[in-house]
Amino acid sequence: MEKGLSKEHSTISAMFNSIAGKYDLLNHLLSLGIDKGWRRKLVKSLKRSSSKVVLDLACGTGDLTIALYKEGFTVTGADLSINMLEIARHKSEKIAKEGHPLPSYIECSAESLPFEDSSFDAVTISFGIRNFQNRDTALQEILRVLKSNGRLAILEFATPRNFLWRVLYNTYFSVILPIIGRIISKDARAYRYLPESVKEFPQYETFCKEIEKQGFKNINFKPLTGGVAVLYFAEKLG
Ligand SMILES: C[S@@+](CC[C@H](N)C(=O)[O-])C[C@H]1O[C@@H](n2cnc3c(N)ncnc32)[C@H](O)[C@@H]1O
Repeated sequence: MEKGLSKEHSTISAMFNSIAGKYDLLNHLLSLGIDKGWRRKLVKSLKRSSSKVVLDLACGTGDLTIALYKEGFTVTGADLSINMLEIARHKSEKIAKEGHPLPSYIECSAESLPFEDSSFDAVTISFGIRNFQNRDTALQEILRVLKSNGRLAILEFATPRNFLWRVLYNTYFSVILPIIGRIISKDARAYRYLPESVKEFPQYETFCKEIEKQGFKNINFKPLTGGVAVLYFAEKLG
Protein backbone atom coordinates (compact mmCIF):
# COMPACT_ATOMS: atom_id res chain seq x y z
CA MET A 1 0.00 0.00 0.00
CA GLU A 2 2.71 2.46 1.00
CA LYS A 3 6.02 3.16 -0.68
CA GLY A 4 9.10 3.61 1.47
CA LEU A 5 9.10 1.87 4.84
CA SER A 6 8.53 -1.87 4.87
CA LYS A 7 5.38 -2.76 6.77
CA GLU A 8 5.50 -6.48 6.01
CA HIS A 9 4.02 -8.37 8.96
CA SER A 10 7.25 -10.30 9.45
CA THR A 11 9.36 -7.09 9.51
CA ILE A 12 7.01 -5.28 11.91
CA SER A 13 6.61 -8.20 14.30
CA ALA A 14 10.38 -8.80 14.33
CA MET A 15 10.99 -5.13 15.16
CA PHE A 16 8.46 -5.06 18.02
CA ASN A 17 9.59 -8.48 19.28
CA SER A 18 13.10 -7.06 19.50
CA ILE A 19 12.20 -3.90 21.48
CA ALA A 20 9.35 -5.38 23.58
CA GLY A 21 11.36 -5.57 26.81
CA LYS A 22 12.29 -1.87 26.67
CA TYR A 23 9.08 -0.60 25.03
CA ASP A 24 7.24 0.65 28.16
CA LEU A 25 10.29 2.35 29.64
CA LEU A 26 11.08 4.14 26.39
CA ASN A 27 7.45 5.00 25.72
CA HIS A 28 6.99 6.83 29.01
CA LEU A 29 10.49 8.33 29.00
CA LEU A 30 10.40 9.65 25.44
CA SER A 31 6.89 11.09 25.77
CA LEU A 32 7.75 12.47 29.24
CA GLY A 33 4.76 10.48 30.54
CA ILE A 34 2.28 12.47 28.43
CA ASP A 35 1.19 9.31 26.56
CA LYS A 36 -0.68 8.12 29.69
CA GLY A 37 -2.91 11.22 29.61
CA TRP A 38 -3.60 10.70 25.90
CA ARG A 39 -4.75 7.11 26.52
CA ARG A 40 -6.91 8.31 29.45
CA LYS A 41 -8.66 10.75 27.09
CA LEU A 42 -9.45 7.93 24.71
CA VAL A 43 -10.88 5.76 27.52
CA LYS A 44 -12.96 8.69 28.79
CA SER A 45 -14.45 9.22 25.33
CA LEU A 46 -15.72 5.62 25.31
CA LYS A 47 -17.15 5.86 28.83
CA ARG A 48 -19.65 8.41 27.55
CA SER A 49 -20.99 5.89 25.00
CA SER A 50 -22.73 2.59 25.58
CA SER A 51 -19.61 0.61 24.66
CA LYS A 52 -18.89 -2.42 26.83
CA VAL A 53 -17.09 -5.00 24.75
CA VAL A 54 -13.94 -3.56 23.22
CA LEU A 55 -11.25 -4.80 20.85
CA ASP A 56 -7.94 -3.04 21.49
CA LEU A 57 -6.16 -3.57 18.20
CA ALA A 58 -2.34 -3.42 18.00
CA CYS A 59 -2.49 -3.53 21.79
CA GLY A 60 1.28 -3.99 22.19
CA THR A 61 2.24 -4.26 25.85
CA GLY A 62 -1.36 -3.57 26.86
CA ASP A 63 -1.31 -0.07 28.40
CA LEU A 64 -4.58 0.95 26.74
CA THR A 65 -6.09 -2.53 27.14
CA ILE A 66 -5.44 -2.37 30.88
CA ALA A 67 -6.71 1.22 31.18
CA LEU A 68 -9.96 0.07 29.51
CA TYR A 69 -10.18 -2.99 31.78
CA LYS A 70 -9.76 -0.84 34.88
CA GLU A 71 -12.73 1.27 33.78
CA GLY A 72 -14.93 -1.83 33.60
CA PHE A 73 -14.79 -2.66 29.88
CA THR A 74 -14.56 -6.25 28.69
CA VAL A 75 -11.45 -6.14 26.52
CA THR A 76 -9.67 -8.28 23.97
CA GLY A 77 -6.14 -7.20 23.01
CA ALA A 78 -4.84 -8.21 19.58
CA ASP A 79 -1.35 -7.77 18.14
CA LEU A 80 1.14 -9.20 15.66
CA SER A 81 4.03 -9.34 18.13
CA ILE A 82 4.16 -12.32 20.45
CA ASN A 83 6.71 -10.66 22.78
CA MET A 84 4.61 -7.50 23.17
CA LEU A 85 1.57 -9.71 23.95
CA GLU A 86 3.53 -11.70 26.52
CA ILE A 87 4.29 -8.50 28.44
CA ALA A 88 0.64 -7.38 28.17
CA ARG A 89 -0.51 -10.72 29.64
CA HIS A 90 1.99 -10.48 32.46
CA LYS A 91 0.97 -6.90 33.35
CA SER A 92 -2.74 -7.81 33.24
CA GLU A 93 -2.34 -10.72 35.68
CA LYS A 94 -1.06 -8.26 38.27
CA ILE A 95 -4.19 -6.10 38.21
CA ALA A 96 -6.90 -8.82 38.16
CA LYS A 97 -10.19 -7.62 39.66
CA GLU A 98 -12.48 -10.12 41.32
CA GLY A 99 -15.54 -10.98 39.21
CA HIS A 100 -14.21 -9.21 36.12
CA PRO A 101 -12.57 -11.52 33.56
CA LEU A 102 -9.05 -10.42 32.63
CA PRO A 103 -8.44 -9.11 29.11
CA SER A 104 -7.86 -11.90 26.64
CA TYR A 105 -4.95 -11.55 24.25
CA ILE A 106 -4.67 -12.91 20.78
CA GLU A 107 -1.88 -12.94 18.19
CA CYS A 108 -3.27 -11.84 14.82
CA SER A 109 -2.99 -9.17 12.15
CA ALA A 110 -5.34 -6.20 11.86
CA GLU A 111 -5.85 -7.10 8.21
CA SER A 112 -7.32 -10.51 9.06
CA LEU A 113 -9.24 -10.50 12.34
CA PRO A 114 -10.27 -13.89 13.75
CA PHE A 115 -13.62 -12.63 15.08
CA GLU A 116 -17.24 -13.04 14.01
CA ASP A 117 -19.07 -10.16 12.34
CA SER A 118 -20.59 -7.62 14.79
CA SER A 119 -18.63 -8.81 17.85
CA PHE A 120 -17.57 -5.50 19.46
CA ASP A 121 -19.18 -2.27 20.72
CA ALA A 122 -15.92 -0.43 20.10
CA VAL A 123 -12.49 -0.88 18.53
CA THR A 124 -9.53 1.14 19.80
CA ILE A 125 -6.04 1.55 18.32
CA SER A 126 -3.30 3.55 20.01
CA PHE A 127 -0.12 4.25 18.04
CA GLY A 128 -0.70 1.13 15.95
CA ILE A 129 -2.42 2.06 12.71
CA ARG A 130 0.52 3.85 11.09
CA ASN A 131 2.37 0.51 11.22
CA PHE A 132 -0.31 -1.48 9.41
CA GLN A 133 0.67 -3.04 6.11
CA ASN A 134 -2.73 -2.32 4.56
CA ARG A 135 -4.88 0.28 6.35
CA ASP A 136 -7.86 -0.04 3.99
CA THR A 137 -8.13 -3.79 4.57
CA ALA A 138 -7.74 -3.26 8.33
CA LEU A 139 -10.47 -0.58 8.36
CA GLN A 140 -12.77 -2.96 6.45
CA GLU A 141 -12.06 -5.68 8.99
CA ILE A 142 -12.80 -3.28 11.85
CA LEU A 143 -16.10 -2.29 10.23
CA ARG A 144 -17.01 -5.97 9.91
CA VAL A 145 -16.33 -6.87 13.56
CA LEU A 146 -18.04 -3.74 14.96
CA LYS A 147 -21.69 -3.94 15.96
CA SER A 148 -24.14 -1.51 14.43
CA ASN A 149 -23.59 1.93 16.04
CA GLY A 150 -20.18 0.69 17.22
CA ARG A 151 -17.36 3.18 17.67
CA LEU A 152 -13.81 3.35 16.40
CA ALA A 153 -11.31 5.44 18.41
CA ILE A 154 -7.77 5.87 17.07
CA LEU A 155 -4.89 7.60 18.83
CA GLU A 156 -1.95 8.41 16.58
CA PHE A 157 1.03 10.73 16.36
CA ALA A 158 0.90 13.75 14.07
CA THR A 159 2.99 16.78 13.23
CA PRO A 160 1.94 20.02 14.97
CA ARG A 161 0.51 22.69 12.67
CA ASN A 162 1.98 25.63 14.59
CA PHE A 163 5.35 26.52 12.99
CA LEU A 164 7.38 27.07 16.18
CA TRP A 165 5.93 24.06 17.95
CA ARG A 166 6.61 21.98 14.81
CA VAL A 167 10.29 23.02 14.69
CA LEU A 168 10.78 22.13 18.36
CA TYR A 169 8.89 18.88 17.97
CA ASN A 170 10.80 17.86 14.82
CA THR A 171 14.13 18.50 16.51
CA TYR A 172 13.12 16.33 19.44
CA PHE A 173 11.35 13.62 17.45
CA SER A 174 13.78 13.25 14.55
CA VAL A 175 17.10 13.96 16.28
CA ILE A 176 17.03 13.44 20.07
CA LEU A 177 14.49 10.62 20.31
CA PRO A 178 16.26 8.21 17.88
CA ILE A 179 19.52 8.66 19.85
CA ILE A 180 17.93 7.89 23.26
CA GLY A 181 15.89 5.08 21.70
CA ARG A 182 18.99 3.53 20.15
CA ILE A 183 21.01 3.68 23.37
CA ILE A 184 18.31 2.14 25.58
CA SER A 185 16.74 -0.38 23.21
CA LYS A 186 19.99 -1.22 21.35
CA ASP A 187 17.81 -1.19 18.23
CA ALA A 188 18.75 1.78 16.02
CA ARG A 189 16.31 0.78 13.28
CA ALA A 190 13.19 0.85 15.49
CA TYR A 191 13.71 4.40 16.73
CA ARG A 192 14.64 5.68 13.26
CA TYR A 193 11.50 4.03 11.98
CA LEU A 194 9.29 5.91 14.51
CA PRO A 195 9.73 9.49 13.16
CA GLU A 196 9.85 8.21 9.57
CA SER A 197 6.56 6.34 9.95
CA VAL A 198 4.88 9.41 11.49
CA LYS A 199 6.12 11.61 8.64
CA GLU A 200 4.54 9.44 5.97
CA PHE A 201 1.25 8.87 7.81
CA PRO A 202 -1.79 10.91 6.60
CA GLN A 203 -2.94 13.37 9.25
CA TYR A 204 -5.98 15.28 10.41
CA GLU A 205 -8.60 15.74 7.62
CA THR A 206 -6.64 13.55 5.19
CA PHE A 207 -6.82 10.56 7.51
CA CYS A 208 -10.51 11.29 8.26
CA LYS A 209 -11.23 11.04 4.51
CA GLU A 210 -9.42 7.71 4.38
CA ILE A 211 -11.60 6.38 7.21
CA GLU A 212 -14.75 7.74 5.55
CA LYS A 213 -13.87 6.05 2.25
CA GLN A 214 -14.09 2.68 3.98
CA GLY A 215 -17.71 3.31 5.05
CA PHE A 216 -17.45 4.86 8.52
CA LYS A 217 -19.68 7.81 9.49
CA ASN A 218 -19.59 10.74 11.95
CA ILE A 219 -15.83 11.08 11.68
CA ASN A 220 -14.10 13.75 13.70
CA PHE A 221 -10.77 14.39 15.38
CA LYS A 222 -9.26 16.16 18.36
CA PRO A 223 -5.61 17.31 18.39
CA LEU A 224 -3.77 16.68 21.69
CA THR A 225 -0.79 18.58 23.12
CA GLY A 226 -0.74 21.09 20.27
CA GLY A 227 -1.16 18.37 17.63
CA VAL A 228 1.66 16.03 18.66
CA ALA A 229 -1.01 13.35 18.86
CA VAL A 230 -4.54 13.18 17.50
CA LEU A 231 -7.64 11.29 18.63
CA TYR A 232 -9.82 10.23 15.69
CA PHE A 233 -13.41 9.03 16.16
CA ALA A 234 -15.73 7.25 13.75
CA GLU A 235 -18.91 5.18 13.88
CA LYS A 236 -20.42 2.26 12.07
CA LEU A 237 -24.01 3.15 11.31
CA GLY A 238 -26.79 0.83 10.16
C1 LIG B 1 3.82 1.47 18.79
S1 LIG B 1 3.12 -0.05 19.30
C2 LIG B 1 1.66 0.50 20.15
C3 LIG B 1 1.26 -0.43 21.26
C4 LIG B 1 0.13 0.06 22.18
N1 LIG B 1 -1.12 0.15 21.49
C5 LIG B 1 0.46 1.36 22.86
O1 LIG B 1 -0.37 2.27 22.86
O2 LIG B 1 1.55 1.45 23.44
C6 LIG B 1 2.48 -0.66 17.78
C7 LIG B 1 1.96 -2.09 17.86
O3 LIG B 1 1.26 -2.37 16.65
C8 LIG B 1 1.45 -3.74 16.35
N2 LIG B 1 1.13 -3.93 14.92
C9 LIG B 1 1.76 -3.35 13.87
N3 LIG B 1 1.18 -3.74 12.72
C10 LIG B 1 0.17 -4.58 13.05
C11 LIG B 1 -0.80 -5.29 12.30
N4 LIG B 1 -0.82 -5.23 10.97
N5 LIG B 1 -1.69 -6.05 12.97
C12 LIG B 1 -1.66 -6.11 14.33
N6 LIG B 1 -0.76 -5.46 15.10
C13 LIG B 1 0.13 -4.70 14.46
C14 LIG B 1 2.91 -3.97 16.69
O4 LIG B 1 3.23 -5.32 16.85
C15 LIG B 1 3.06 -3.15 17.98
O5 LIG B 1 2.85 -3.93 19.13
